[in-house]
Amino acid sequence: MSAAFTQVARNSGSDASVHPVDPVLQASRHADFQANAAMAMAKALKKNPREIAAAVIEVVEADELIDKLEIAGPGFINITLAAGALGGMLEEQRADTLLGFEPPERQTIVIDYSAPNVAKEMHVGHLRSTIIGDACVRLLEWQGHEVLRRNHLGDWGTPFGMLIEHLLDLGETEATQELSQGDLNGFYRAARQKFEASEEFQTRARNRVVSLQSGDAETLRLWKLLIEQSQKYFMQVYGQLEVRLDGSEFVGESAYNDELAPTLEELRNLGLIQTSDGAECLFPPGFRNRDGEPLPLIVRKRDGGYGYAATDLAALRQRTQALHADRLLYVVGSPQSQHLEMVYEAGRMAGWLKPPATAEHIAFGSVLGADGKMFKSRTGDTIRLSDLVNEAIERAAATIEEKNPELSTEERAEVAQMVGIGAVKYADLSSERTRDYVFDFDRMLALEGNTAPYMQYAHARVQSIVRRAMASHGIGEDEIDQAPMVIADEAEKALAMQLLRFANVIEEVSGSLLFHRLATYLFDLATAYSSFYNSCPVVDAPDAETRLSRLALCRLTARTLATGLSLLGIRAPERM
Ligand code: ARG
Repeated sequence: MSAAFTQVARNSGSDASVHPVDPVLQASRHADFQANAAMAMAKALKKNPREIAAAVIEVVEADELIDKLEIAGPGFINITLAAGALGGMLEEQRADTLLGFEPPERQTIVIDYSAPNVAKEMHVGHLRSTIIGDACVRLLEWQGHEVLRRNHLGDWGTPFGMLIEHLLDLGETEATQELSQGDLNGFYRAARQKFEASEEFQTRARNRVVSLQSGDAETLRLWKLLIEQSQKYFMQVYGQLEVRLDGSEFVGESAYNDELAPTLEELRNLGLIQTSDGAECLFPPGFRNRDGEPLPLIVRKRDGGYGYAATDLAALRQRTQALHADRLLYVVGSPQSQHLEMVYEAGRMAGWLKPPATAEHIAFGSVLGADGKMFKSRTGDTIRLSDLVNEAIERAAATIEEKNPELSTEERAEVAQMVGIGAVKYADLSSERTRDYVFDFDRMLALEGNTAPYMQYAHARVQSIVRRAMASHGIGEDEIDQAPMVIADEAEKALAMQLLRFANVIEEVSGSLLFHRLATYLFDLATAYSSFYNSCPVVDAPDAETRLSRLALCRLTARTLATGLSLLGIRAPERM
């Protein structure tokens, strides 16, 4: 269809028509579906849409899948597929490991995500980065890309002077204990308070920064201790969240220390560095502050130190030059958008970031509390992520107990884990990434609506229907997976259409990394399955062929749901 529309557009000699035209397919009540692109094209070409539709029908090649094309209304094309076409397409999808998704050319993709700060509690922003980044990793690895995970840990900089001095005051044993148990809030706050209250402490902290920067062995040992203990705690949170972070992706800010001077040197040689107020800066054109003055990326501060921007420049240089990344993703909150855009622009000016390589800010909004303000604990502290996940799991356990008291204690605990973690992730991924969302346990754990428990329950229900039919009719899995798929009933057709959308949705989401579109799709699929199940008996189908064909639809639905959820980092229980 796309080819036909494109050809018609080209024939009419429009400039805008060099690009393939999206046929804008939609479900239709009068046919299998309809193509609506003629209307938009009519405007662009200043022609009658019905004429365009007629021209399109004219050039559509004889296709064994299409039975009939008709013009309707102002210029819709109603498409009726040949009998057997849908079944055939579904059988092909079933036979494919990627469910019909065509793997694109293999790219090297660096994903910068999670990135908490050492000796500081991870906040909900880091939770979002971790969840969204993990979904990016899963989606892109699934389609065969080489994905390099980078946890850009905040493990360097001036705060380490005060943190190390506080560690010494506490004693190593006491400090390690506090940190590895995850009392990062308490640790950081105490250090900060001393720094603000005592001049003597301030001096010590400042001197400590100097020792750290000059590579003093004892200072480095203490610094490493802080990092190891914090990493231990972060790993614990990652484990709880069931994300694919195993520690190997910790490539913190300090990992680029040796690259900072050469990076500056290269920028200087390219003539991109200007001195401003004693600092060495790069001014990417087009970035201005509120007063209209050009904004700098400070590569080296007046005191000779390198900061956040320098590290990001060195990282960009390494990722493009040494790792040969084709695509760079930065899963970082929206407030850092300008910083990142400036870093990318600097990378382009330096010739590091050049087409076809791209750098994308996978920006996200804030997590809000019920009061619409930033999500905080009652005492105003950052909420500990491990407490959050635990509470979700506990609440899920209560819900499951109510819903299905027959599950064994063990299985219930396992399912509660899947549902609790799934609920937290799904609530995040199913809302539009760039928007803020309200963290609400009741809503995310509801069994109705576009929630993880609903989706997981939908999957478990399909599986239980399949199990029942297999047991009562003595059918094996292989038999179902080889059964011809025959789409006859309206509800079967609607379900088939949803199943066949999968590859398109994945393709779209791989570009936009807007995971709510995948979530919405899965929800639509579950809804279509419900309607199908209400009007098309499976276990009690009229005959054996229909039963097998419907069971095949069930199994393909379950597999598509489970695959989609797994790409979001969510497990789908067999029973619930
Ligand atoms: N550690 C930073 C923070 O907590 C996030 C780092 C994001 N990644 C980057 N390459 N700048 O805000």
